[in-house]
Amino acid sequence: MTRMEAVHIPVLCKSVLNHLQVRPQGVYVDCTVGPGGHSRAIVKRLGAGRLVVLDLDEDALRLAARRLAGSKAKLSLHRENFRNLPRLLRRLRIRRIDGCLADVGVSSLQLQTAERGFSFMKEGPLDMRMDRTQTVTAASLVNDSRPERLLEILRTYGEVTGAARVVAALVEERHRKRFETTTELAAVVERVKGWPRGTRLHPATQVFQALRIEVNQELKNLEEFLSGVVGFLRPGGRLVVLAFHSLEDRLVKRAFARESGKCICFSPRDLCGCPRRRRVRILTRKPVRPSGPEIRTNPRARSAKLRAVERLNTSTGGHGGGGGPRAERGRKAVASRLGDGAREANRGQDR
Ligand SMILES: C[S@@+](CC[C@H](N)C(=O)[O-])C[C@H]1O[C@@H](n2cnc3c(N)ncnc32)[C@H](O)[C@@H]1O
Repeated sequence: MTRMEAVHIPVLCKSVLNHLQVRPQGVYVDCTVGPGGHSRAIVKRLGAGRLVVLDLDEDALRLAARRLAGSKAKLSLHRENFRNLPRLLRRLRIRRIDGCLADVGVSSLQLQTAERGFSFMKEGPLDMRMDRTQTVTAASLVNDSRPERLLEILRTYGEVTGAARVVAALVEERHRKRFETTTELAAVVERVKGWPRGTRLHPATQVFQALRIEVNQELKNLEEFLSGVVGFLRPGGRLVVLAFHSLEDRLVKRAFARESGKCICFSPRDLCGCPRRRRVRILTRKPVRPSGPEIRTNPRARSAKLRAVERLNTSTGGHGGGGGPRAERGRKAVASRLGDGAREANRGQDR
């Protein structure tokens, strides 16, 4: 066992399994296999069932393949973005799944590998790509984005206080020398922001979070995944999502509310563009949080929130809004009012 395998502990694993209710003959998808912690627990409960696993990260898939080898279940691993899950399932000729897990965000494997550039605690290239075949990196964003765009990223995805001062310092610094490493960026942010009194959080934490979300398009991926996956769950099938910050959790909460037939635009009824189609039952009225002892043994679990739904036995299949032309007009009006879901989530419209 490598050191990384030893330190990686899957978050809220018991609760994930309780909510998935793995059936030995079932078909399951782990959309974010990472080092394979949750997948290992799932395959232990799968007899001759099937597990499809995805990750954007080649290193994670290699490690997961090693850790899952020897299981009885039919296993397939795919380097794929979970936003493309419907396409992948169609390619694999899978029409219905019994359960799906998404444990979004970065893994300890990624955070602790300096060359991946996710951590301000370790000197490494300013990279932050989960998918290393893509061209946009954290360095390209910091060095080449217009100041207004950088400001928007820091405010929207990091809720960075003093973002304008940080951006001004970054722009001044990059004229002198392009940013190349994580520690160069962290040092500039620390110089500008200092350590606010009474906090142990490094001043660069939110800046790194914001850049990571933008580099990997994390909120867009999650939003698209959430709108496509429910149509593939068989009646009784379950979807479990673990989120690690409020922007993600709000998207999950809203998507689950929409799929459970609630209005999430809060417009008058005849203007409402929400599908109002009850396709799922919400299993977690409040998100499940890790216990104190779990956080002590696995600090990465600290901010985790688990939400889960169960697919209902409805005859309606794929995704799409219902209603007549009035509802369609309403949908358009609401869509243009809300704009991008991620932006909206950040405005704190947690409904
Ligand atoms: C928190 S880790 C998963 C850990 C895993 N559940 C375990 O217990 O070992 C998240 C993983 O999701 C992957 N990931 C993030 N966004 C993704 C996306 N849009 N599509 C596929 N994989 C993604 C990351 O590369 C990372 O390996």
